[in-house]
Amino acid sequence: MNVTEAVLSRASARAYLDQPVEPELLREILAAALRAPSGGNLQPWHVHVLTGAAKQNFSQRILDSFSNNPMGESPDPKMYPEPLPSPYKERRAVCGTMLYDALAIPKEDKQARIVQALKNYEFFGAPVGLIFTMPSYMVEAQAIDMGILMQSIMLLAKDRGLDTCPQVIWRMWPQTIRSALDIGDAQHVMGGMCLGYADTASPVANLGVPRDSLDALVSFHGD
Ligand SMILES: Cc1cc2nc3c(=O)[nH]c(=O)nc-3n(C[C@H](O)[C@H](O)[C@H](O)COP(=O)(O)O)c2cc1C
Repeated sequence: MNVTEAVLSRASARAYLDQPVEPELLREILAAALRAPSGGNLQPWHVHVLTGAAKQNFSQRILDSFSNNPMGESPDPKMYPEPLPSPYKERRAVCGTMLYDALAIPKEDKQARIVQALKNYEFFGAPVGLIFTMPSYMVEAQAIDMGILMQSIMLLAKDRGLDTCPQVIWRMWPQTIRSALDIGDAQHVMGGMCLGYADTASPVANLGVPRDSLDALVSFHGD
């Protein structure tokens, strides 16, 4: 698989096979991804890898926090602007609609939607969960670095027959996550990621979420 194929075939997988990822393969992906560039070569990231019982316990901690406080904790950096204006609001809605349509969950069935959303906290059944943190004194520019690292992991995984789903939703639980990972208050939770072998038979293995056109999103200045 070349880079173009990896970029074009990567999709957020929200269903995984019960098949572990070989530890050596995981280390190989992460080691290669850590070659990602960062402004000033700060390498501001830290990746927490969760597997097996540690992953299960971590998910349970979050689900317990959700039961006590469904609105979530105060996120470190916010997840989205509030309110979210057009056209971003509509784009977000398309992705949500495609997800619930694929699962035949109607709009009125709030309970089924919550059950589906909670699957985020079990990394959608993936055998590997990643949590990304960085020191709380970092600024917006370092969030770019983190995004580059995350995409590097996603493409390297794709190249090895694995799939992923980046997850901003973990930002809703910074206090619980810091406590569960024992990392103290000086780290911001930037997000997470599922990683594993996608269950390609599932309608949510690849939703085929569309993108706006090149002309809508790119301005060429010059000849
Ligand atoms: C930084 C980031 C955070 C995301 N957070 C979540 C999330 O919390 N839960 C989820 O199901 N999908 C999440 N997604 C997946 C997006 O919904 C998805 O990338 C988008 O709809 C495009 O679809 P595709 O990845 O299949 O191409 C996230 C994606 C990114 C890049």
